[in-house]
Amino acid sequence: MKKLVFLTGAGMSAESGISTFRDSGGLWEQYPVEAVASIQGYERNPELVQRFYNERRAQLSSVQPNEGHRLVASLEKDFDVTVVTQNVDDLHERAGSHKIIHLHGELMKATSSRNPNDPKCIVTLPADNPVIKMGDKAKDGSQLRPFIVWFGESVPMIASAIDEVAEADILVIIGTSLNVYPAAGLLNYANLQCRIYLIDPKDVPYDQTLGVHHIKKGASEGMKELCELLRK
Ligand code: APR
Repeated sequence: MKKLVFLTGAGMSAESGISTFRDSGGLWEQYPVEAVASIQGYERNPELVQRFYNERRAQLSSVQPNEGHRLVASLEKDFDVTVVTQNVDDLHERAGSHKIIHLHGELMKATSSRNPNDPKCIVTLPADNPVIKMGDKAKDGSQLRPFIVWFGESVPMIASAIDEVAEADILVIIGTSLNVYPAAGLLNYANLQCRIYLIDPKDVPYDQTLGVHHIKKGASEGMKELCELLRK
């Protein structure tokens, strides 16, 4: 089976009703990113940060995967698929994808604020009440915090993601402005034989020498066109 790797961003979940970060009306227009998505912001005002992620978890329980997520999962019958995502939502999981690498953490998980990557401290929040309050403790006795990679923190999964992209026969980038590193640098690890597709209604910056096939559509319509192309 050919190895098919996806690199997805917020645009993958846009059609599910989850706002992106940098489109007009995006999340970073409503919240200052450094206040709610950086380690400094958390240390300065942890209550604000807990509230921001509690609100995003509440929204997540009210949305569903879209056709794009479902088509990504459906390709597992014909390809060895890995989904590398910058998204912290669980929509790829809920659509049926199995091999998923979350570069920026997972909204439905919580961890230690002393050692966020200690596997003994990473827990899944209850689906019926995915809230973290100040005073909630992790297994190591520290304050429980979102299992999210904030700006200023390392991206522990990037090495696994690079290995997957380097082995890919086909790389498909969906719904990311390629603004944030190291995720945005992943496509440069594609080998020379790798076919690269981009699904995004807008132009995004990438190295034009990479021979990227840009499907200028949204995730669902773009995935329908990609599935046709991959059947040939
Ligand atoms: N289908 C596909 N792509 C879409 C759609 C859609 N329906 N709607 C918007 N897009 C595209 C936009 O054109 C844009 O290129 O999705 C992209 C969204 O870009 P961003 O909002 O910057 O999101 P993303 O690239 O995932 O951000 C990366 O930044 O703030 C951090 O950690 C956060 O993981 C996030 C990272």
